[in-house]
Amino acid sequence: MYYKMLQFILLATAVAAAAISGPSANSISSRQIPSLPDTFEWSSSGVLVSAKDDGRNISGIKDPSIIYHNAAYHVFASTAQASGYSLVYFTFTDFAHANNATFHYLDQSAIGTGYRAAPQIFFFEPHNLWYLIYQNGNAAYSTNTDISDPSAWTAPTDFYTGTPAIVTANIGDGYWVDMWVICDAAACHLFSSDDNGHLYRSQTRLSAFPANMSEPVIALADTNKYALFEASNVYSYGPEQYLLLVEAIGSDGNRYFRSWNASAIEGPWTGLADSEADPFARSSDVVFDGAGGAWTRSISHGEVVRTDVDQRLGISPCGLRYLYQGLNPNATGDYNSLPWMLGLLTQTNSAC
Ligand SMILES: *[C@@H]1O[C@H](CO)[C@@H](O)[C@H](O)[C@H]1NC(C)=O
Ligand SMILES: *[C@@H]1O[C@H](CO)[C@@H](O)[C@H](O)[C@H]1NC(C)=O
Ligand SMILES: *[C@@H]1O[C@H](CO)[C@@H](O)[C@H](O)[C@H]1NC(C)=O
Ligand SMILES: *[C@@H]1O[C@H](CO)[C@@H](O)[C@H](O)[C@H]1NC(C)=O
Ligand SMILES: *[C@@H]1O[C@H](CO)[C@@H](O)[C@H](O)[C@H]1NC(C)=O
Repeated sequence: MYYKMLQFILLATAVAAAAISGPSANSISSRQIPSLPDTFEWSSSGVLVSAKDDGRNISGIKDPSIIYHNAAYHVFASTAQASGYSLVYFTFTDFAHANNATFHYLDQSAIGTGYRAAPQIFFFEPHNLWYLIYQNGNAAYSTNTDISDPSAWTAPTDFYTGTPAIVTANIGDGYWVDMWVICDAAACHLFSSDDNGHLYRSQTRLSAFPANMSEPVIALADTNKYALFEASNVYSYGPEQYLLLVEAIGSDGNRYFRSWNASAIEGPWTGLADSEADPFARSSDVVFDGAGGAWTRSISHGEVVRTDVDQRLGISPCGLRYLYQGLNPNATGDYNSLPWMLGLLTQTNSAC
């Protein structure tokens, strides 16, 4: 209720300000809220975080979700090893010391052991709670009042009663993965992928979240499954604009990201930098200036570094930073045992 009133007051204030100041307010706001470019250039760090030799026998640290809150970065990531996937949390104040951060394995909390992967963290203002979204065969969430207390996460609750019929009908020999939640003023939306060329979206009223997720619809599809594979991110920027990133597998077999934008979370999504030649982030538009040079050719599953931590997932279109997973191209072995590590992209062609 309080939240709704606040929304109304903010909206009313904005409308009143626009009415009083007239057209000049528009030019000021368009100067202050620049749009995204349609070509991206990045520099990359060297390896920032890798699996630790701590008796856990983890092979890879993957799928990071990151926010900056209370003067510290908070990262939730998947741990991968031959026996399967779980989740880890760590926090640090400076990327230069990220690899020194203690790993808190979330199987020690009520999240428990078993298949949990691809976390997403955000603060849901209406409940005053942190939500961790992840895959566990279904799409699941846990909550916590204190992001820095890894022991306090609640047990998983599934969003769906089972695999939605539309996913079963379209998944082919893919996997249902990479759940992602973003809310606007009216609704919360849950995205997921099937490694088979489909991006799905469900929704529920903001006031009903996390209950009552609808049957998904196909938000975006590609006949080439590798071009629309997995690991979607959806963010808001500026006034009612949305950025969609989806990971693809390129013609060279390496991972990269394509991007689209829209004026509503429901779409329609318009290509922004959405090709292998003009990608959002691919080894071809990244300069590796960190120690170790071009330590990866895959720019894979990760997240824009968010400083706005709430459910709207607001980002600034200026000076983007993206925490990603990369891999020594010489690494071999079964997929779950590969030594994925984390690196940071910093946008170098920001117009603002
Ligand atoms: C890690 O691997 C070693 C050697 O194979 C084994 O003895 C140990 O039990 C493993 N630890 C865990 C936590 O699985
Ligand atoms: C990590 O911590 C150790 C021990 O405190 C310290 O010697 C080292 O310089 C730290 N490394 C980084 C990269 O922060
Ligand atoms: C979910 O939907 C059911 C059936 O329409 C309804 O009874 C229930 O109140 C809804 N829950 C929430 C939290 O809105
Ligand atoms: C997408 O971004 C481009 C480039 O900033 C902009 O011109 C366009 O209006 C945006 N489209 C939507 C639907 O937000
Ligand atoms: C991969 O192996 C080649 C040949 O041994 C070597 O030159 C190259 O540096 C290796 N790449 C990385 C990123 O380690």
